[in-house]
Amino acid sequence: MEKTIVAATGNKHKIKEIEAITAEFGMSIISKDEAGVPDVEIVEDGETFEENSYKKAYEIMKLCGRTTIADDSGLVVDCLNGAPGVYSARFAGTDGDDDANNRKLIGLIKDVPYENRTARFVSVITMVFPDGQSIVARGEVEGHLITEKRGREGFGYDPLFVPDGYEQTFGELAPEVKNAISHRANALKNLRKKLMDKEVSR
Ligand code: IMP
Repeated sequence: MEKTIVAATGNKHKIKEIEAITAEFGMSIISKDEAGVPDVEIVEDGETFEENSYKKAYEIMKLCGRTTIADDSGLVVDCLNGAPGVYSARFAGTDGDDDANNRKLIGLIKDVPYENRTARFVSVITMVFPDGQSIVARGEVEGHLITEKRGREGFGYDPLFVPDGYEQTFGELAPEVKNAISHRANALKNLRKKLMDKEVSR
């Protein structure tokens, strides 16, 4: 297995979390800039996290010919029939405008009783190898939404999300706590298992 993996994401926070796991397998992560990948826009037009995650990893792998890893993630809200889902980053229109996204979400759920404000974060991590093989690992974390932001940690919808078993939001919990129980942590645990199986079958 190749030892240097190219990250399809530019998000340093995500790269750090992913690297903690891949390091166990003697793999190090480099950015797509370091891999000499030209600055291309990858349109995330899939209907599922799996499609978008695969697309990001595959297209970067094609550009550099090296093993590539990508994460696609988002928030799935039951009383909104799964929205914002794959549109989480651009829910309110502008890509990555967390404040606007949170305002829009609050507006849509404020009259829904707390017990029906169930939601989950989902992360799908895909590793694509130069021979076209891939490993797909999904992780989720269940919780409830509140209608007033609490906490300054994390990013995105973290200040509105209370994970099951806790009273604080992801915005209030220490990053170590979030990183131990998050959707990305669970996807990475899954990835670890799949990498171990792949090593055994070699
Ligand atoms: P992506 O970068 O295309 O995967 O978009 C992910 C979007 O989902 C982010 O912009 C956030 O709005 C949301 N999201 C994903 N993971 C998290 C998280 O850990 N906390 C809060 N929001 C998240």
